[in-house]
Amino acid sequence: MTSKSIRKAVFPVAGLGTRFLPASKAMPKELLTVVDRPVIQHVVDEARAAGIEHFVFVTGRNKGAIEDHFDRQFELEATLAGKNKAAELEVLADLLPPAGATSFTRQQSPLGLGHAVWCARDIVGDEPFALLLPDMLVQTVGKSCLAQMMEVYEAQGGNVIGVEQVDPAEAHKFGIVAIRDGDGPTWPITDMVEKPEPGTAPSNLYIMGRYILQPEIFAILADQESGAGGEIQITDAMHKLMQEQPFHAHEHDGRTFDCGSKLGFLTANLALALEDEELGGDLRAEIGRLLRS
Ligand code: UTP
Repeated sequence: MTSKSIRKAVFPVAGLGTRFLPASKAMPKELLTVVDRPVIQHVVDEARAAGIEHFVFVTGRNKGAIEDHFDRQFELEATLAGKNKAAELEVLADLLPPAGATSFTRQQSPLGLGHAVWCARDIVGDEPFALLLPDMLVQTVGKSCLAQMMEVYEAQGGNVIGVEQVDPAEAHKFGIVAIRDGDGPTWPITDMVEKPEPGTAPSNLYIMGRYILQPEIFAILADQESGAGGEIQITDAMHKLMQEQPFHAHEHDGRTFDCGSKLGFLTANLALALEDEELGGDLRAEIGRLLRS
């Protein structure tokens, strides 16, 4: 089967970040640092590693610093060059997306994730695209989460959703899929529900913030009513699209940290720093000291 390749990725960054106040009052929560770079940089790097060529950011007021982060900073570069800081200059150059490879559009009002995705419709156009929630940071064992999903897409076509196991007692907080029985880590999806009533979740697989979607989702989102929490939900729109197109769930081989929550953010910092060649050993010793004191 030949599927149209996935060139563009959408990053919705227009949310208010209320769970992270006061840190997110003046600074976008997407720029909070995990180890040595903003959380959004980690997620853009994941998309880049999966072959994405164009990065579409759906932003809102107070989010201008995200745009600056993905641009050149001439004064800084000139200062670093003057001080012969070659390694630092190389880090900046490596992270910079090619000219013309980013687009920014505004959501204007945070009406929900589904509405944010719909705001990217003209930039994405009539082609399948990836959607990555920038506060969900995924640490995988093998290839990046989106790269794993791309392989599923190449084999199956249609739509692919990244999933992960969740404690059944927590399932009511997430979008949950129902799957056809079979060996994982990839299954056809038979149903999905956003924030099911406690005890009613159709599985323990939650939608963890990575999607490959067909462009027909935009027409559905255009007419989408508000759902759970009074917001326009992407899960409700995918549920409608599922009546016409195949959806597969893929359980990646890693762990997702919700960096929009304080606990998830702190855990992500620890998990990634412990894996870091320079920091890991010393941090382990510091944690040991803290736990003993
Ligand atoms: P979240 O619900 O995690 O983000 O949405 P939030 O609304 O910013 O956070 P809280 O709940 O108030 O603390 C997941 C992603 O979708 C984006 C957010 O920026 C986040 O990256 N989003 C959410 C939008 O772009 N627009 C929206 O209307 C809602």
